[in-house]
Amino acid sequence: MAQFVTEGFHHVTMVSADAQRTLNFYRDLLGLQLVKKTVNFDLPDTYHLYFGDETGSPGSLLTFFEWPHASRGRFGVGGIHHVALGVLDETVQLKWKRRLTDHGVRVGGPYDRGYFCSIYFTDPDGQVLEMATEGPGFAIDEPADALGQELMIPDPGRLPGHRDEAQIAAQTYPETVPEITPDMEIAGIHHVTGHTDDLDQSHQFYTQALGLRLVKKSLNQDDDKTLHYFWANYDGQRILPSSDMTLFGWPPNAARAREGTGQTHHVAFRARDAAEQLTWREHLESLGLHVTDVKDRKYFESIYFRSHDGMLFEIATDGPGFAVDEVPGALGATLSLPEWLEPRRFEIEANLRPLT
Ligand SMILES: [Fe+2]
Ligand SMILES: [Fe+2]
Repeated sequence: MAQFVTEGFHHVTMVSADAQRTLNFYRDLLGLQLVKKTVNFDLPDTYHLYFGDETGSPGSLLTFFEWPHASRGRFGVGGIHHVALGVLDETVQLKWKRRLTDHGVRVGGPYDRGYFCSIYFTDPDGQVLEMATEGPGFAIDEPADALGQELMIPDPGRLPGHRDEAQIAAQTYPETVPEITPDMEIAGIHHVTGHTDDLDQSHQFYTQALGLRLVKKSLNQDDDKTLHYFWANYDGQRILPSSDMTLFGWPPNAARAREGTGQTHHVAFRARDAAEQLTWREHLESLGLHVTDVKDRKYFESIYFRSHDGMLFEIATDGPGFAVDEVPGALGATLSLPEWLEPRRFEIEANLRPLT
């Protein structure tokens, strides 16, 4: 078992109705690097955009399928509620709040979640995003070497009805933020939060299939009737950044997620290389999960499987990375296609709306 511990998130893939609008939001407003402009390899008449840090390192990647004709999705059991991006501290978070609100994006928070501080907003398709501070971390109410042991009841002052919502809403940065300053750099995926209607089974899944460990049992701080569990790559001392998967526990048979725009399509975790991925595939099958064959995604190799509640997961290799077909420093500059689609480049390009 011990060898099957993911290093954390590789990427999260979401669904957009309009690739240009998504580009404007994630590249121009959030300042992420477009590291690859390509097509959905399984549906080559639509875009697949990859955003991340400068080199597109695992854990920094947000990717988007463009589904121009799809209907709006809905969060629920088996789906993802929100994707949280990491920011340094609360000052930086207020800078982001100011920059976003000045661009007409509604921002909730900053809310003190105890373990970190959070602001919330949605992308143009309605995907819920969060920006969460690095600290203070999960050891504020349990010893760092014994996390996730007991149910932690949040301080009442952090719960609805006790918070000063007007004071929270009024907090912002005193000056406009026309440029993204170096301190505002987004530190990859902080956590990903979904819904399940069976936390016990989810616990089995995350621990056995992905090797994650429960690091916090608490309550949803916006709805304290709902449990909120957090798993991560945790060695008993420290938690690896970009490895924290969390779930809200809804009652049995609660409303299920619906695929569509503004929703997360799947969550990918990391495997170091193809050999580890193959061993992992056997391990997942030994748990009774149906796992796809290895798919060549050009920038990494992928296998896919679903959790008990239908959530789609992927395990993607760290390499070879985004510099296989473009020089570092010019990633995302051209329309990249895998070798097997190159013969159709003219036809594919003619069917896509050019992006600026
Ligand atoms: Fe969150
Ligand atoms: Fe993926």
